[in-house]
Amino acid sequence: MDKLVVEGGIRLKGEVVVSGAKNAILPILAATLLTDEPCLIKGAPNLCDTITMLKILRSLGKNVGLDRGIVTVAANRHKNFIADYKFVSTMRASFCVLGPLLAKLKKAKVSLPGGCVIGVRPVDLHIKGMKALGANISVESGYVVAKTSQLKGNHIYLGGIYGSSVLATANVMMAATLAQGRTVIEAAACEPEIVDLASFLIKMGAKIEGAGTPIIEIEGVKQLRGAEHTIIPDRIEAGTFMIAALITKGDILIKNVLFHHLGAVIDKLEETGASITKTDNSIRVCFKRGLKPINITTLPYPGFPTDMQAQMMSLMSITPGISVITEKIYPDRFMHVAELNRMGAHIQREGPHAIVEGVKHLSGAPVMASDLRASASLVLAGLVAGGETTISRIYHLERGYENLEDKLQRLGARIYKEKE
Ligand code: UD1
Repeated sequence: MDKLVVEGGIRLKGEVVVSGAKNAILPILAATLLTDEPCLIKGAPNLCDTITMLKILRSLGKNVGLDRGIVTVAANRHKNFIADYKFVSTMRASFCVLGPLLAKLKKAKVSLPGGCVIGVRPVDLHIKGMKALGANISVESGYVVAKTSQLKGNHIYLGGIYGSSVLATANVMMAATLAQGRTVIEAAACEPEIVDLASFLIKMGAKIEGAGTPIIEIEGVKQLRGAEHTIIPDRIEAGTFMIAALITKGDILIKNVLFHHLGAVIDKLEETGASITKTDNSIRVCFKRGLKPINITTLPYPGFPTDMQAQMMSLMSITPGISVITEKIYPDRFMHVAELNRMGAHIQREGPHAIVEGVKHLSGAPVMASDLRASASLVLAGLVAGGETTISRIYHLERGYENLEDKLQRLGARIYKEKE
């Protein structure tokens, strides 16, 4: 197993190019199951999660490859409808093969993903949606078994206790493309990755309106064709580099960014006093003296993303004053608190809130990554901490950041991988 070693204290400067969005490519790869024709996906990030999804597609009978950012899915008639526990247990997003398999093959057997360190992550909304489309669902030996003679369009309310669900919206939208008649999804997730998935499905011949709003309407078609698509840039990776610039008192030009996907993050960073300049598809983030503490509440898009909460906490931990961070999507997503405190941060957790009292310095320490974004927050803290920080279990990081170590090195960071 590898660990990351970070020697803190360097101001990061230079340019970095953001990769394609992890959360966009995963459901888009699942969507290729809706056709027997070839598909070409450009701008694909080379991540562990992308590789896992390609393995799932292969296990389902698809012939897929990834070379220099391009995924090719060959024409063929896949017949396997079982998504194995060994894949779904490692990556929750694999559950979104359920909708495409059910729509295309009229049957699917997909392992239940189970919980993870950021809390209980149920799939009730996915199941509710599939049932509403006419699927017969049972749970057998840890697998969701779904069957239908023909999916039929319906009016489906997909709001849950924590708001909309991104992957449930993706799953139901994909299933509805081949259902008979009209489906209306209410309380749909509005995330840019849903819009990207819809635009891929539309290129495949699907009839979808309203993606990016809480009401999505889908008119089912008989079949879908192959399509070519370029993945949107990763807004969370862009946000992570924005914070890297600020936390190291640096100056970074971040390229391949869609600002309108980052509204809440930009707004909050401007509130702290950061200097942010937008040019074409780039954003320049520059430290200005006197950053201020801020309060943040994570919410479904266009609110502040939960996937940026941990990184923001690292920045607030060295910003003088008191910041309050409230987590409304995953109330237990605070595994990074204890690790940041080991580096000298003063953070107190109270239920879904973290009260962060900014300190003058963090000090390097051995820390443990617990999940993807928590890992990113520890890297950020390591970049500013005095001395050396070693981060174990970095496989979490490799699930969602393409060449992070390399990109940070080019900005001047002293960061390298070592065997544990
Ligand atoms: C996606 C993202 C993840 C992000 C999350 C929230 C991908 C691959 N992953 O995950 O990076 O952190 O959105 O923005 O796109 N919920 C239910 N029932 C369900 C489904 C979800 O109660 O059936 C709850 C979840 O426990 C959570 C909330 O709804 O509290 C939002 O989760 P959801 O949007 O579904 O997250 P994912 O789509 O799994």
